[in-house]
Amino acid sequence: MSEETSQQVPVADDDAEIRAREVEAQMTDEERFSLLVSVMGVNDVVTVRDERIPEGVPMSAGYVPGVPRLGIPALLMSDASLGVTNPGYRPGDTATALPAGICLGASFNPVLARESGAMLGREARSRGFNVQLAGGINLARDPRNGRNFEYLSEDPLLSAALAAGSINGIQGEGVISTIKHYSLNCNETNRHWLDAVIDPAAHRESDLLAFEIAIERARPGAVMTGYNKINGDYAGGNRVLIEGVLKGAWGYPGWVMSDWGGTPGWETALAGLDQESGLQLDVMMWQKEWFMAPLRQAYADGKLPTERLSEMVRRILRSMFAIGIDRWGPAPEVDMARHNEIALDTARQGIVLLKNDGALPLAADTTARIAVIGGHAQIGVPTGCGSSAVVPPGGYAEVIKVGGPGIMGVGRNLYLLPSAPLAELHTLLPDAQLEFDPGMRPAEAALMAARSDLAIVIAVSLESEGFDSPDLALPWGQDELIEAVAAANPSTIVVLETGNPVLMPWRDRVKAIVQAWYPGQAGGQAIAEILTGAVNPSGRLPVTFPAGLAQTPRPDLPGMGTPWGTPTTINYHEGAEIGYRWFAKNNHVPLYAFGHGLSYTSFEHTDLHVEGGDTVTATVTVTNTGPVGGADVPQLYLTEAAGERRMRLLGFERVVLSPGESRQVTLTADRRLLARYDGAANRWRIDEGSYQVAVGSAADTLELAGQAILKSAQFGA
Ligand code: BGC
Repeated sequence: MSEETSQQVPVADDDAEIRAREVEAQMTDEERFSLLVSVMGVNDVVTVRDERIPEGVPMSAGYVPGVPRLGIPALLMSDASLGVTNPGYRPGDTATALPAGICLGASFNPVLARESGAMLGREARSRGFNVQLAGGINLARDPRNGRNFEYLSEDPLLSAALAAGSINGIQGEGVISTIKHYSLNCNETNRHWLDAVIDPAAHRESDLLAFEIAIERARPGAVMTGYNKINGDYAGGNRVLIEGVLKGAWGYPGWVMSDWGGTPGWETALAGLDQESGLQLDVMMWQKEWFMAPLRQAYADGKLPTERLSEMVRRILRSMFAIGIDRWGPAPEVDMARHNEIALDTARQGIVLLKNDGALPLAADTTARIAVIGGHAQIGVPTGCGSSAVVPPGGYAEVIKVGGPGIMGVGRNLYLLPSAPLAELHTLLPDAQLEFDPGMRPAEAALMAARSDLAIVIAVSLESEGFDSPDLALPWGQDELIEAVAAANPSTIVVLETGNPVLMPWRDRVKAIVQAWYPGQAGGQAIAEILTGAVNPSGRLPVTFPAGLAQTPRPDLPGMGTPWGTPTTINYHEGAEIGYRWFAKNNHVPLYAFGHGLSYTSFEHTDLHVEGGDTVTATVTVTNTGPVGGADVPQLYLTEAAGERRMRLLGFERVVLSPGESRQVTLTADRRLLARYDGAANRWRIDEGSYQVAVGSAADTLELAGQAILKSAQFGA
């Protein structure tokens, strides 16, 4: 089957529901219980093959047996934040390693997200995985969070639009996608013992709104809960969030699975959890496989009602039938060269040019002496670490063992993907005289920089599931390295391969800064193309880069420095005022604002027209006023709502324009972004009045202002 024809026709939801009811009614209790747990394959942590996984079944992140007599397929799950992972590391089974989620976030491009989702779906299917543990959408509340690289942004709308694109892409290929980690799993420090405290209404306006919009737009088959507690109750057993909000207010029809090791008791089933995941990790965490013997006992004792057991099963079946994993034809052909292009495009669109004092782009015919320094640039580019790490075609170029405490320390490695910036620069700058210094000693690197016409320092960081960074400094003394190189050569360009913001104390002493994130398996090529102008940078920051931790809601991170396992409370007192919203509210001037990103051309925004009524609709004309083609991302913000200062991203669009070309863009706000969530009435509320909006090229660069009169309204649940 060709790639074009592999898209499955989904059955109508009602049909899936009806069939789920019919099939469930025919099941024995033993069969019902068998669907409620997944078993992990062998990996870094689980080193012994579980005998519940039949011979011949490939290792997966989670395996659930099927019921062949009723046409129920087994579930085989793999991670998918950055590509299809290879649980159990079957040699030779490699997959396209995409750039970090935050790089996709920086593309501001839901169409690209859908394309990369479809790529995930095809690669998953060709390997026999029918569930992708994708859709990581936790908002970047804290720039130290070790998993921000896997997620998309700090903004609910941007995150939802991109997650929906990706999930629709995956499910369009007939593969179930999750959305995760529901909710507020926004720090890794002591994550299993972390109580995330938040005002419930503010939660609805931020992290939950991201889930709500993405679920509406993409209808993922499953929701994965987080490891943490929310307001005192574990995410996996949080009745308020699962029964109250997700299944209640939003009417979510799919199933809710725990995170691996995130089922603290069988009673979670009474709070809405439908499936225990990776039960070996629950044994490590809680000394029990909760949905095996204890849940059966609870059922025998009448503590788990029959109807609830049936509902758990029906929800799983319903998603299987709605998305069609029971009707797979032959696996789609996978065009790995095309998939490499998708990884490359994501890096091209997500790399952000933060600063440029005229140093970039480098002329393709330059004969300059260029010192390329550090970042393992002669080997490849780093990728984030944890359950999302993907083995690229040909394998990793290098795995540098780093280690650390706790379960996650076992697999904490600096993985290098084989796309070396140095080699790619050689290709694109054939006449330049390139020299490489590993950046091991600042003084040695400075000597090379001093005898060069310009220096490019590539700096990396290792961010990983299970760890938050203690601060925003570059690791391994790289700040000192950049200072030394910049002191030796005023024409210094810095490329940052990090999954989070860093502080850049050397910012004023370098000529250009490129934020390349973890750029994926074609990342070296994309970096070289951006540096040389073969590609015009168009990424925009999906997170605020603070000038210091003092500007963030929690200068000191609760639990930081305590041993793994210490009960920790984190008060997300900023509520819905995350990132740029917090900075606007507190008049903080960031290092680089949300939405910021430079180009080799220039854009102008003119003719803003704003209409009110039920919502805000704005039209604006975008013109490429510079010398080369490029992409702009005009952003529409709410700045004041009925007399109250309130910053919200209301809309955005990535617009590709040739020199001199203009396009009119219309952006219509989701009404929930104009509203407050009224916790007493359990409804969204828009107060009548005047709403100030602005269009700009970043949250701190608002160029055109307008206003709309909105009618008062109460809606939703
Ligand atoms: C992660 C999940 C992942 C799961 C299965 C957990 O450690 O938190 O995001 O899907 O492992 O690999």
